[in-house]
Amino acid sequence: MPGKATSVMKSGAKRLLARTGFDIVRSTRPRGGVDDFIPFEATMRAARAAGLSVGDYIDEVMNGTPGATRSTIEELGALGVFAADPRTVLEIGPGSGRYLEQTLKECSPSRYEIYETAAPWADYLVETFGVVARPVAGWSLAPTPDASVDLVQAHKVFNTLTFLGTSRYFFEMARVTRPGGRIVFDVMTESCLDPAAVRAWATRGGDGHDSYPAAVPRRMCVDLFATLDCDLEAGFLAPMGVASTEVLVFRKRD
Ligand SMILES: C[S@@+](CC[C@H](N)C(=O)[O-])C[C@H]1O[C@@H](n2cnc3c(N)ncnc32)[C@H](O)[C@@H]1O
Repeated sequence: MPGKATSVMKSGAKRLLARTGFDIVRSTRPRGGVDDFIPFEATMRAARAAGLSVGDYIDEVMNGTPGATRSTIEELGALGVFAADPRTVLEIGPGSGRYLEQTLKECSPSRYEIYETAAPWADYLVETFGVVARPVAGWSLAPTPDASVDLVQAHKVFNTLTFLGTSRYFFEMARVTRPGGRIVFDVMTESCLDPAAVRAWATRGGDGHDSYPAAVPRRMCVDLFATLDCDLEAGFLAPMGVASTEVLVFRKRD
């Protein structure tokens, strides 16, 4: 099994480098979704061999975008997301934990919950960062009570889920956020889809995943969250795959 994982990693990394960055490798059983997250053992080994943290390895080597995670976190910091000193953080789909690790450099929550389908990565995050892994069932955050979280985030997740999965998570994110709390996530909106970007995706993107990259209209997000008492505070672009994704920051009304 380790040999198989290594060869998957090598050929996957080659493809990934060739098209300057995507977080997911093709699995032997394509499911068209993000359930096939990058293999745990092989990625950790490759990061160690490169002398990098796993987050830096994904940014620099796999995605060809050094510092991309840090840069998003710094933008969020400049927007005051961490100055609010979130005591409870919830992250959907943290994967390797590259955003989680950077988030913990900016604030010291007493509780950090994750919802992650890739069990080896979830176990690693629990062991390494002392976060609490909640069971994933569909697109629900049911184990988390209403209005109990100061910062809810998801990075590079909704570009890979289906419309229904993403929409269902949106309702849940608004439900668990306390008044005054923030909701941060990125989606591939129309801001990321000029003709050159669409051409780049059509010719060089996607690689084996039917649901990646999924587009979500910005207007839909703004209008939907407004009905859930959450107002858009800011949006900025971040690199993703062969083009970009838009990070949106919402605040739940007091
Ligand atoms: C493209 S990866 C992004 C990982 C990480 N946020 C990052 O940017 O490096 C998508 C992540 O979502 C996870 N995932 C897939 N389906 C999910 C679901 N229904 N609920 C929670 N996480 C899910 C995958 O296992 C993977 O870790």
